[in-house]
This record gives sequence, C-alpha cells and structure tokens, in this order.
Amino acid sequence: MQAKPKSILQSSGLSRRNALKVLAIGSAVLAAPKLKANENIANCQLTYDKAINYLGKHQAGVLTPEQKCASFIAFNVTSNTVEELQTIFSLLTKRIAYLTQPQQASSTKNDKMPPAESGILGTHLQPDSLTITVALGNPLFDHRFGLEKLKPKYLSEMTSFPNDRLEKKWCGGDILLQICANSQESVIYALRDILRHISAYCFPLWKIDGFLPARAIDNHTTPINLFGFKDGTGNAPADDSALMNDLIWITAESTEPSWCDGGTYQAVRLIRFNLEFWDRTPLEDQENDFGRHKDSGAPIGMKNEQDDPAFEKDPHGDRILFDSHMRRAEPRNPERHTAKLRRRSYSYSLGLTGAGALDMGLIFVSYQRNLKTGFIDTQKRLNGEPLERYIKPFGGGYYFVLPGIESTKEFLAEKLFAALKQAN
Ligand code: HEM
Repeated sequence: MQAKPKSILQSSGLSRRNALKVLAIGSAVLAAPKLKANENIANCQLTYDKAINYLGKHQAGVLTPEQKCASFIAFNVTSNTVEELQTIFSLLTKRIAYLTQPQQASSTKNDKMPPAESGILGTHLQPDSLTITVALGNPLFDHRFGLEKLKPKYLSEMTSFPNDRLEKKWCGGDILLQICANSQESVIYALRDILRHISAYCFPLWKIDGFLPARAIDNHTTPINLFGFKDGTGNAPADDSALMNDLIWITAESTEPSWCDGGTYQAVRLIRFNLEFWDRTPLEDQENDFGRHKDSGAPIGMKNEQDDPAFEKDPHGDRILFDSHMRRAEPRNPERHTAKLRRRSYSYSLGLTGAGALDMGLIFVSYQRNLKTGFIDTQKRLNGEPLERYIKPFGGGYYFVLPGIESTKEFLAEKLFAALKQAN
C-alpha cells in the first residue's frame, strides 16, 4: 500500500499552533514589504522554544525582560512542621526545573488514574519564556516554624496608605508565586502543574492575572498601561549589574541574615483604575498628572521618551508640575539614589465592580534591596498626588524573593533551612 503523503505541516516539523502563527505573520509580512519575511518567521518560531534558565545567583523573573502574561498567586501554608515546609520548596524547585525546559509530555497512560499532565499544551511542551519566581511573606516568619529570628530585616506586613482601601481577601500570604510567560496557556499550564503538586501543603489565598501589550514585548518597546501611558521609561536599567547589586540585590555587604544573600524585596500593589472618569479627563490634565506626554512618553516639553526631564531648568514646576507622578516619584536626584526601583508591573482586567464599572488596573510590582527607602518612601512621596483621583489600591503585600540556586542539587530556600538548623 502506498504511504499516505505527509501534509506540509507534518513535513515541516511545525506544531499546529506554531504553523498558524507562522501563517499569520507570514501574511502580515507579505503586506509589509519592508520586513524580511524569513527573519520574522524564524523569530516567531523561536518564541515558544525560548527557555529562561531558572538556575543562577538570583531567581529569574526579577531582571528578566517582561513576558506578555503573568499570574500572581499567594498561598497560606497549611502544614505545621518544618519538614513539610521544606517539602514545599523542594517540590516547587523540581516543578520549576521541569516546567522551564522543553519536554515531551509524559506518555504514561492509565485509564484508572488522572493523567500526569493537564494536556492543555499538547504533547510537546515548550517553555515559552516561562519564569516562576518564589517569594516569602511576612506571616511565614511567625511562631509556627521558628523562623522569627531569621526574618529579612525590612520584611513587614503591608499597612494601608491614605488612599488605600485594602481588602483582606486580596492581601498578604505566606508564599507568593509570580508566574510569567509569553502566552496565557503557558502560565495556566505551569500554575495547574504546581497546584497539583503542592496543594497538600498550601492553600491559595488570592490570585490575579496580568498582561502586557504583546506588540510592546515583541518590539522591545516600553509597554503602555491602561491609562494609555508608556510605563517603565524611567526604570532602573536591568543590564547595569553594578547598579542592580547596589539597589536591587541583597549582597554579602548587606546587614541582612546571610541566607538572604542574592534575594530582594518585592512590593506588590493591586491598584484599581477609575477608567470611566479618566476617559472623560482632558488630555492636558492626564499629561500633567504623569508629567509626560501621552503619545511619545517624553517628559512634558521634550520630544523623545528618553529625553532628560531637565528639572533644574524648571525650578518652579511650570513645565512639569511638582505634583506630577513623575516629579514626586523621580529617583534622579542623588539624595534619592536608594529610591531607584526595578518596576515590573502588569495590567489586569477582572470584569466589573459591584457598581458596574470596569474592574481594571495595574498590578504594580517593584523590586528593591531596601523596602523602606525603595517602595515605602517612594509611595509616601506619592501620597496625595493628583493621580489618586483615578486610582484605588485594594490589595497586594510585601514579600522577600528567595535567593537563586546555582546547581540542580540545591532547592529554593535551602539556605534558610540550613540557618534554622544551625540556630536550633
Ligand atoms: C496607578 C498606579 C501607577 C501608574 C499608572 C504609574 C504609571 C507611571 C508612569 C506612566 C510613569 C512614567 C513613565 C516611567 O518612567 O515609567 C511612572 C513613573 C514612575 N513611577 Fe509610577 N505608576 C503607578 C504607581 C507607582 C507606584 C505605587 C510607585 C512606587 C511607589 C511608582 C513609582 C514610579 C517611579 C519610581 C517612576 C519613575 C519616575 C522617573 O524616573 O521619572 N509608580 N509611573
């Protein structure tokens, strides 16, 4: 019998999902003569394959360029022994090692058992730039596990700022996972895998999904937030490792417990926007609230996004108002050096509020070596800013991102457990 001819899809070795994307991009390329078709198709294929190394002095997901999708999920630990707590981190490490690498999905089938995988990515698992970043919340350092004395110096419960309306069900947690990838299904695949493995020891407390404009991530331009402003322009540059060691990472010189070396503090704020009001606000007011032009992202009066705001030439705040978000938050002044943050925020969309308004806003995320001089002091300077008329923080918390691990033999938080053993 003659063999059935292979379809183009089969002979190209492409998955259906990639092939569709290639076709879509291919036709866009035909319509845009300036682009080199093959380059784009090659880039597109690379996207799903891209693996981000989970090993290193620091965890991935902090300085990693933003991916398109994210999920933040906080857990309370239900176990009450140190051994079980340790099991959680060893399981998390194993799952992260598995999920962030390309894999052939498990082929073991047993009709009488649940399948080993959710199956939502098919049989060929591609990492899709997945990062899973594990952080600890303040309550984990209470009396339950004897970790009180090992608590990172600045870790505390997030307290309310004047414009906040914090809802308990959206705050805190013992452990926070930040799961990011370039598609929602890759994030959900990882999330379900992890839940399945750790749910005997932890209970989910709150979860929120985030997204960034795909075109900004693909083109490596600054993402635009739901107010329509470029968000991230003045961010501390992640490729400046001396600056990152100075401002973001706990180092051997820090006055923190030694197990913290390589970690960082994470501030997460869930901030609802009043978009109906914002969309009726004149452009001039919108721009004055931020201190930047809406279309270009340039400081007001300047042309380009990366232009210096030249505050020294505007001593009375005639051009960029003293009250603008940018001028209040600005970290350029040398006295505010330690206020430089690594922001890595995502937009969210949750449906409607009880009052029938769009429930959309920002999952503000910042990383800093010192939570007080970083996020807290910056937020204090922002208290009372005109932008507050349009925003209402309702959740989040402060967390400590665990140091990375440098070998497959280690597990996340291993140094914390070693310090605990030594202390007892
Ligand atoms: C509703 C919430 C927020 C929105 C929509 C927002 C948006 C923006 C935008 C559009 C910019 C100007 C572009 C840029 O440099 O990225 C900016 C700058 C900045 N924001 Fe926010 N932000 C929010 C909350 C916060 C919070 C809570 C903090 C910290 C406490 C913060 C800290 C900063 C800093 C440090 C800058 C850089 C200022 C500069 O370099 O000129 N932002 N933000």
